[in-house]
Amino acid sequence: MTILVTGGAGFIGSNFVLDWLAITDETVVNLDKLTYAGNVHNLAALANDPRHVLMQGDIGDSELVSALLAKHQPRAVLNFAAESHVDRSILGPGTFVQTNIVGTFQLIEQARAYWVRQDTAARAAFRFLHVSTDEVYGSLAGNDPAFTETHRYEPNSPYSASKAASDHLVRAYHHTYGLPVLTTNCSNNYGPLHFPEKLIPLMIVNAQAGKPLPVYGDGQQIRDWLYVKDHCSAIRTVLQGGRLGETYNIGGWNEKPNLDIVHTVCDLLDELKPRADRQTYRNQIAYVTDRPGHDRRYAIDARKIERELGWKPAETFESGIRKTVQWYLDNPQWVEQVQSGSYREWVATQYAQV
Ligand code: NAD
Ligand code: DAU
Repeated sequence: MTILVTGGAGFIGSNFVLDWLAITDETVVNLDKLTYAGNVHNLAALANDPRHVLMQGDIGDSELVSALLAKHQPRAVLNFAAESHVDRSILGPGTFVQTNIVGTFQLIEQARAYWVRQDTAARAAFRFLHVSTDEVYGSLAGNDPAFTETHRYEPNSPYSASKAASDHLVRAYHHTYGLPVLTTNCSNNYGPLHFPEKLIPLMIVNAQAGKPLPVYGDGQQIRDWLYVKDHCSAIRTVLQGGRLGETYNIGGWNEKPNLDIVHTVCDLLDELKPRADRQTYRNQIAYVTDRPGHDRRYAIDARKIERELGWKPAETFESGIRKTVQWYLDNPQWVEQVQSGSYREWVATQYAQV
């Protein structure tokens, strides 16, 4: 048995692939364009593992996707590949439209063509699981109830608009063609292998480098944080038992203002790797201009996945954030490679051929 994972060299995708192969022997074909966010070093532990086939390529490359599907005959496609950073989407929305919308369209179109050629049993067993975000629901006011799966789509950034569009395409492929799809909408992840452009890893890395810790606006924007390994277990759970055509919200019941997050990171670093001058890392906090169109609050109501599939997060924020800070302290080489961009120069000589 085989699954096709896209974007499996990124933050969540690589955690997913590593966890998957720690749990099962089912082969993973990993299609990743290796953009700035895709890092082969994330998968170093699988370098000589025949259960992992890494293919550099674009989800929008129909010929490549078609050939991969024909060759490896996966029972499922899990689409993690995306441009994922809101700030980058504000500076340059084009690649977000290209990968998140057009790319998802090309991928699901090839998946459909493959699926219709399967025999009845394989068609029934096939799944297309689309990994999406809570940002498609827009922004909540302070007392609003958390997002449920029926919340109206109100995306506010080019990133979230492109993810919303891809969700709609996936939904339409189920409704129109009967493709067995599943969609997950998850809150903010954190954990190992997180690219230091996002809040938590940026704070950890900047703090140690003696750089400012940029807090946008008043720092009171709220996000709902989930440890990445819990997101991965939720995706496995939905793949295993999710009802076809359904969406499942995934979250950690863990809303926190950004400033609290930054304080927590500083306090953990104060404990685990104090500054040479014994001052607190909190002194490095710098309030900077707010993100344009900044969503004020996200919160996920994760009762559906718990009720229907029995999934709950295993990690508390306290345990997860401690593990995360410790991971960055233990992996300075990974941080150095990411910051210098040297991982991109690393020549992957062993890419699979279709
Ligand atoms: P990431 O930016 O770390 O990784 C994205 C991966 O996709 C990279 O390996 C990149 O090389 C690859 N990629 C980009 N364009 C591609 C293309 N055209 N073809 C093939 N591969 C391509 O992102 P992430 O944080 O790991 O997010 C993964 C998925 O989860 C995304 O779909 C994102 O929208 C969703 N998501 C992320 C979060 C979060 O907090 N990070 C939360 C909810 C949902
Ligand atoms: O909610 C899920 C989403 O979470 C995912 O779909 C996205 O892919 C992922 O990037 C993330 O989006 P956010 O915009 O919430 O994450 P980010 O880490 O960029 O920012 C988190 C919050 O911290 C947000 O309110 C902006 C703020 N922030 C961010 C950075 C990078 C700062 O205050 N300073 C910063 O330097």
